[in-house]
Amino acid sequence: MGEMIGTLYGVGVGPGDPELMTLKAVRIIGAGDVVAYFSKRGKAGNSRTIADKHIRPTAEQIRLEYPYTTEIPVSDPRYTAALDKFYDDSANRIDERLRRGQNVVVLCEGDPFFYGSFMHLYDRLNGEHETEVVPGITSMSGCWTRAGTPMTRGNECLSVLAGTIDENQLVQRLENCEAAVIMKVGRNLPKVRSALSRAGLAERAIFVERGTMSEERIIRLCEKPDDRAPYFSLVLVPGRQAGQ
Ligand SMILES: C[S@@+](CC[C@H](N)C(=O)[O-])C[C@H]1O[C@@H](n2cnc3c(N)ncnc32)[C@H](O)[C@@H]1O
Repeated sequence: MGEMIGTLYGVGVGPGDPELMTLKAVRIIGAGDVVAYFSKRGKAGNSRTIADKHIRPTAEQIRLEYPYTTEIPVSDPRYTAALDKFYDDSANRIDERLRRGQNVVVLCEGDPFFYGSFMHLYDRLNGEHETEVVPGITSMSGCWTRAGTPMTRGNECLSVLAGTIDENQLVQRLENCEAAVIMKVGRNLPKVRSALSRAGLAERAIFVERGTMSEERIIRLCEKPDDRAPYFSLVLVPGRQAGQ
């Protein structure tokens, strides 16, 4: 008899509001033998919270808890090594279940292929196992909708930037863009704010934290009195035509 091999599913669960999950995501999560999700130390796991109602009570749940790396600078090779080991170990835990013939659903906040940690598992397991990825509504889409902010019209182009890049690079890219989304704002907010001012875009920028979630907060960046921003925050810069 041939070996029974399970399927790996990377399932996007959208930006936060559970009603923004797709029908396909709900169906696949509800049928999963094993449900895995990433979480920060001591946190419930955002994707797990979003999908909660749809996880089978009998499903095995695997919490993939990121290593505590805040004391190591991101540029230090020890940081990359710690994360590589974490993703290797996580992929091994999933691989074991797939080899037993179980289907494993990895929950992904937003869309799995858009800055998602799932991609580290995909890179390690895709060649070895049957894999299916279910797209999700991205955080930027959820955020601009909740902000009531049309983003691009006509020929306008949208740039997606990471708030983690160097300030001069941010300025250079912002100066050449029509509309933009800056992801991964969090502790980078002072730098992002300064880059937007230098690029002459401060007036147009909208700050969104925890978009579509119950603790959502939306404010024009120039009216935000402090530089506090949670991990789940981004900045929208609507195009000139779109924002009219
Ligand atoms: C690792 S990326 C994941 C992106 C996700 N896969 C997606 O499709 O949007 C995490 C970043 O997404 C943004 N983000 C995710 N959910 C958000 C939300 N509900 N509101 C605001 N920003 C969010 C933040 O910038 C955060 O730092």
